[in-house]
This record gives sequence, C-alpha cells and structure tokens, in this order.
Amino acid sequence: MISIGGRTRTCGLIGYPVAHTLSPLIHNLLAEATGQDMVYVPFPVEPERVGDAVEGAYALNITGLNVTVPHKSAVIAHLREMDALAEKIGAVNTLVRCEGGYKGYNTDMTGLQRAMASDGVCLEGERVILLGAGGAARAVAFLCASAGVEAVYLLNRTPARAQEVAAEVNRVCGRDCIRPLAGYGELPEGRFLAIQGTSAGLYPHVEDTPIADAAFFEKVHTGYDLIYRPGDTRFMQLVRSHGGRAFNGLKMLAYQGIHAFELWNGVYVDEALAETVIQKLRKETEIHG
Ligand code: ATR
Repeated sequence: MISIGGRTRTCGLIGYPVAHTLSPLIHNLLAEATGQDMVYVPFPVEPERVGDAVEGAYALNITGLNVTVPHKSAVIAHLREMDALAEKIGAVNTLVRCEGGYKGYNTDMTGLQRAMASDGVCLEGERVILLGAGGAARAVAFLCASAGVEAVYLLNRTPARAQEVAAEVNRVCGRDCIRPLAGYGELPEGRFLAIQGTSAGLYPHVEDTPIADAAFFEKVHTGYDLIYRPGDTRFMQLVRSHGGRAFNGLKMLAYQGIHAFELWNGVYVDEALAETVIQKLRKETEIHG
C-alpha cells in the first residue's frame, strides 16, 4: 500500500456513477509496482458539474483524470488542448495536466490498438468488419481510419446509423475507407478481422449476439469483442466454433488505463507488468461477474 504524504500526486476518475469502476485497481497497482508516489480516486460528478470539476481539479493540482459516462464529450469544452485522435473522435477518457488546464486524450482507442498488437493483430493494411454504430463503434471506426486499415465494412442492426457514421468518419479523416453495408451478404470474398462494438451480449444479457449466422462467422479469422463482462461472449464462442481466434475487451480495459498512467507519470509499462494488471482484472471480473 502506498503511504500518502505531502508529495503524493492525485489522479482520479470523473463520471456518474463511478461506484463500479475497476480503474482504481489498475492505477493503484501500477503506482505501487512502478514506485510512483501517486493515488487514484473515483469522483462522482453530476452531469451539469463537469466544468466545475475540471476547474476544481486544476486548482487542487490534480495530475490527471479519467473521464467516463456521461462526460466523455461534454468535458471537451473545458479543456486547454486536445490530442489529434481524440479531437477527431470527439470523445476523451483521459485528461493530462498541462500549462493552464488539461489536455484531452482517448486512451480507449490507443488502448484497443495496443491490446490488439499484443495479441498479434495489426490494423494497418487489414480489412475489418466492424459491428455497431453507437459511441463505441464510432470511436473504433476513427481508430481504424487513422491506423491505416485498407477498409472497414460497417454493419449495424439499423443500417442508417452505419451510413451516418461512415460518412462522418470518412469526411473527418479525409479517406474513403469506411464502407457501410446493408448486410453481411455484401462482404467481398475472403476472411476478415471482426470487431464487435455493439452492446449485444453485455452482462446480464449473455445470450445475446448481434449476429449468429454461420455464413457470417465463416468470414471471420479473428474476432475482437469490446465486451469484457462476461469474459467469453456468445460472439466469441461463435468465432471459435468456426475456426477463428477470439479475444475479449479486458486487455483493452487494461491498456486504456496503462496508457493514461504512462501519460501522467512519464513512465513506460512493459508487457510483463501489463500482464499482471490483466490477471488482476480477470480475477476481479470473474469474482463479481
Ligand atoms: P455504446 O456507447 O456502448 O456504443 P450505444 O451508442 O447505445 O452504446 O450503441 C449501441 C450499439 O449496439 C448500436 O450499434 C446498436 O444498434 P442500433 O444502432 O441498431 O440500435 C447495437 N445493439 C444493441 N443491442 C443490439 C442487439 N441486440 N443486436 C444488435 N445490435 C445491437
């Protein structure tokens, strides 16, 4: 346990609610393992108080904050600077103290990219199927476009939303790489990396999947589900039963925290320590579901 003293730096999380967050576990573990004199505390901040919270955090000399629902977009109006990827996405989950305020980052997406890299999945030049067109999938579409994918085939239960997201991401990124499809029957030949970015299958609706057709899963060589509760989703099971490799969102959760920790403390977290974080998160999510 870190001993809190006069030089201890404070980081934290603003969101509403924050009671079930796993982030203190990630950051307090990392602080202890790397010898950083830092603590991490969740702060429940009501929707209309986000500006006051950022200003107050700066006045209190807080080093950095994570940002979660419902503040990820609203907080941007209160920041001094924006990282380029976060600016494109229009959502931030990490604030880093800078001259006169905070700079906003989106480590959800850098974390996803790093999690994938550690599993041997590289977005550059890849053809990707992306399921979903909500907040999470939209951010993934921006990541894919920025990371040099060859193409993203975007599928959503409501195709009109997929068309809107594709048009927006293509416009902002200046590339024509996001292709909305009306159904998976429109996919070209071959097998693809499929990223599951819908909320279907999330605990407690563990039997849900955005798609169950065998003909779809035959086109998937690797399935990446952003969900980590449960750790093995029906989508992942279907990927594996058709011969593909399947991953859940637990590593993404770990790496979004790791990248934020690195930005706040100016240190690098290696794969061995990242693995310790992942194991701890796995244990915690298995215990509490
Ligand atoms: P988030 O911020 O987690 O992305 P969201 O913005 O509410 O959440 O988006 C939820 C996404 O999951 C949407 O793409 C939604 O599809 P629709 O646009 O058709 O609503 C998708 N989704 C949710 N439940 C689903 C289900 N049972 N089957 C298929 N897609 C589902």
